Amino acid sequence: MPAHLSSPVPSALAAALPSAAGLSSSPRYMQVAGALQAAIERGEYPAGSALPAERELAARLGVSRVTVRQATLKLAERGLVVRRHGSGTFVAASGPERIQHPLSRLTSFTEDMHSRGLSAGGQVLSFGAGHPNPQEAMQLGLSPGQRVYRVRRLRTAGGEALAVEESILSAERLGLLSAADVQDVSLYALMQQRGAAPVRALRQLRAVNADQELAELLGVPLGAALLSTERVAWDAAGRAVELARASYRGDRYDFVMELRE
Ligand code: GLP
Repeated sequence: MPAHLSSPVPSALAAALPSAAGLSSSPRYMQVAGALQAAIERGEYPAGSALPAERELAARLGVSRVTVRQATLKLAERGLVVRRHGSGTFVAASGPERIQHPLSRLTSFTEDMHSRGLSAGGQVLSFGAGHPNPQEAMQLGLSPGQRVYRVRRLRTAGGEALAVEESILSAERLGLLSAADVQDVSLYALMQQRGAAPVRALRQLRAVNADQELAELLGVPLGAALLSTERVAWDAAGRAVELARASYRGDRYDFVMELRE
């Protein structure tokens, strides 16, 4: 491929890709997508410029062309690049679209992403049953001896990590639950099936910086700005059904609220 037909592959891009024997458990094409996205966000491929040809990227990154194609399809799904048949893949004019999240509507993560045409993921990071601490018991209207489930999930849209959510749920109100029940499904849909659909919620928002764990999970630099929220949701009978603590990527989310006179 003549050099003038595509941008060179920055060495930082190859360096950002975990080695084949690396620790990352995500599929290879997702790793390539992540490395390419980071390079675009660092400005190594400016808006409107062509990404290196598939063959060149594959050779430099030591992956197959199919893997590169899957990665660029993923980036196209995220709105980061545009694939033009016969002429290549170009960086989208305005970068990835930020997620405008209205604070006045009670929706689930899955509904939010589906309404944007994106697939929603919920990888269970941890799951356990136990008892609420005194503050959680008060927020959920439970006595300290009652049982709760704690579910921590990595939320993804189109395969891109956007948030880490922890839900504390009353075992009595929800019935028997296992980690498999909540892996990659809509928790709110499940709660609805079990007669505990949340219909009202109170949410508190604050800014935090990503610690090492959140930075790794969300694929952002250590100390990156995150939006941390805590919310209690109640069902139609007025029973608190979920206490949720979540951290959203500040570079991808806008929380929007409507104000009226
Ligand atoms: C939102 C809420 C969470 C809730 C989640 C359920 O993100 N902030 O508190 O757990 O939706 O989403 P889903 O039904 O996709 O699991």
